[in-house]
Amino acid sequence: MSEKASATLDNLMTENRKFAPSPEFAAQAVAKADKYEAAAADRLGYWADQARSTLTWDKDFTETLDFSDAPFAKWFVGGELNAAYNALDRHVERGIGDRVAIHFEGEPGDQQTITYAELTERVKQAANAFEGLGVKKGDRVAVYLPMIPEAVVTMLACARIGAIHSVVFGGFSAEALRSRIDDAEAKLVVTSDGTWRRGKASSLKDAVDASLEKPGHTVENVVVVQRTGQDIVWNEGLDRWWSDVVDVASKEHTAVPHDSEHPLFILYTSGTTGKPKGILHTTGGYLVQTAVTHRDTFDIHPESDVYWCTADIGWITGHSYVTYAPLVNGSTQLMYEGTPDTPGRDRWASLVEKYGVTVMYTAPTAIRTMMKWGRELVDAHDLSSIRVLGSVGEPINPEAWMWYRDVFGSNAGGGKRRENPAPIVDTWWQTETGAHMIAPLPGVTETKPGSAQVPVPGITVDVVDETGQSVGNGQGGLLVIRDPWPSMARTIWKDPERFKDTYWSRFDGMYFAGDGAKKDDDGDIWLLGRVDDVMNVSGHRLSTTEIESALVSHPAVAEAAVVGAADETTGEAVVAFVILRGEEAAKDTIVEELRAHVGKEIGPIAKPRTILVVPELPKTRSGKIVRRLLKDIAEGRTGGDASTLADQSVMQQITEALKK
Ligand code: WT7
Repeated sequence: MSEKASATLDNLMTENRKFAPSPEFAAQAVAKADKYEAAAADRLGYWADQARSTLTWDKDFTETLDFSDAPFAKWFVGGELNAAYNALDRHVERGIGDRVAIHFEGEPGDQQTITYAELTERVKQAANAFEGLGVKKGDRVAVYLPMIPEAVVTMLACARIGAIHSVVFGGFSAEALRSRIDDAEAKLVVTSDGTWRRGKASSLKDAVDASLEKPGHTVENVVVVQRTGQDIVWNEGLDRWWSDVVDVASKEHTAVPHDSEHPLFILYTSGTTGKPKGILHTTGGYLVQTAVTHRDTFDIHPESDVYWCTADIGWITGHSYVTYAPLVNGSTQLMYEGTPDTPGRDRWASLVEKYGVTVMYTAPTAIRTMMKWGRELVDAHDLSSIRVLGSVGEPINPEAWMWYRDVFGSNAGGGKRRENPAPIVDTWWQTETGAHMIAPLPGVTETKPGSAQVPVPGITVDVVDETGQSVGNGQGGLLVIRDPWPSMARTIWKDPERFKDTYWSRFDGMYFAGDGAKKDDDGDIWLLGRVDDVMNVSGHRLSTTEIESALVSHPAVAEAAVVGAADETTGEAVVAFVILRGEEAAKDTIVEELRAHVGKEIGPIAKPRTILVVPELPKTRSGKIVRRLLKDIAEGRTGGDASTLADQSVMQQITEALKK
């Protein structure tokens, strides 16, 4: 285990508080303890039941799981369904078309209330428009949009016609966008002029233009939503306004059924090498597990809950728990465009109060940021509507967990506190798992601050040692998933070998998640962070190697090494060590220039917090950078074991150089 993991472990070992669900909550909960029993008695039977009771199938499946070509799985084999029909039309058909699907609030305060009937119409129009632009089943569509309703409309319109969406987070650069467009060979790009961020119009279309400047791409059309009204460059022949193609399209569109294994989307995520992986998810299994976990983990009562997931659609959380699951479940959700500190640092609490949010799902980094801003800002609002609080993206430290419970979960309005605070569900999962894998059931599990605890019903996870043996209670090791699950990634786009190598080669017949974990004395699971070269900054996944490649692509950089250093707010922060060369190395502004360069190559989210100029890097005799020692420096420690270094004096040289 790494030093960081064992330090975390020591810290967590002293945590022994437990919070049982209140009898009132338990009595009304959607998911009861018998779910675990049913799933344990017959795992595949359980998933088959969930699939049939949760979704509407045009053609029933004949086999629940076909894993004969492992690790490439097929779920609900022979079944046919349409994802958009499941998220939209069927709700209108069963008479709840008037229910609000999305309460949208823009950063400037503009609002839209979109019912299921209206959202269905909008998606039908977009489906007609995209088809009119030549998009067919199986074609790829790149989506580079902010958190506005058109993002959900676009994704569902693609799903409706069987086109595969590839959403690229708006915080990624033109370069990053282009490499994703190229890898997926996208035919259509959907974007907006810009988005509101901290009171200003921030551009998106510019990056699309820059990404398509170099010829040789596959894009035939760019559809542009007008959001801010800012000036944009118009490319005749390529660009079309959303209002000219979607808003005028027919509101009639029949959803055709797709095979259960028809690709739904590609989502790129960082791995341990420089090139992002195009994670491929398919239709049936993905929808089943996202919808079931959304309902059970968050105790969703669709007729009364107002659910709010703060994630951007550019990440898997936004895909599974904004676009798909809440709508498949017929629930009402809030969607917010902007930052949490505009116009004031109480924007989130004010949104909860204004919309009567009952279930909130966010990341520890956001909770820690609000802790820093002070609880008074939250206490000033009435949050008595809140019933369930979710956490995702990174390990949540017990202090943040308790603060979340005290400040968001115990607020009864008017300065009063509640007798029974809202349960907190810490959900562990990944882009590759598609849906929650480890999470409490809020009406069943006695929750523990800092632990995701137990696999969701129908999922088998374990913690194993280096040889793949299951560890005992009280011990740490590597997190694995033992059996295939419905929403598992099916492959890496155009790279099935990498899919096998990355996830299925470390241990025979088990999925290797890349996370360290431990089992406590009750056998509950505590997540301890990544064990590979993947960093987690504010719940966003970044690759050390990818940032190193970006740095060395700058002419002034001879060599670079990147580490994730512990950071109080963001969990980890990017710290880069660089060896400079040439004339530019002497410039005072070089560090700022390098940060900007990383922003341009990958995106602002990847900019190092700190860049340290060093004369040498610690390497083994075989030339491998010993990141552990750099991490020590980045986190202010000294004296780590340097005995494997080829040159024993390197650490000394680095410390001397940094003193200057
Ligand atoms: C990595 C996956 C899952 C959606 C957001 C991130 C870390 C995620 C937790 C949690 C501890 C967590 C893991 C995982 N992670 N949730 N509840 N507790 N760690 O998705 O970008 O694919 O990143 O995020 O390290 O491997 P992702």
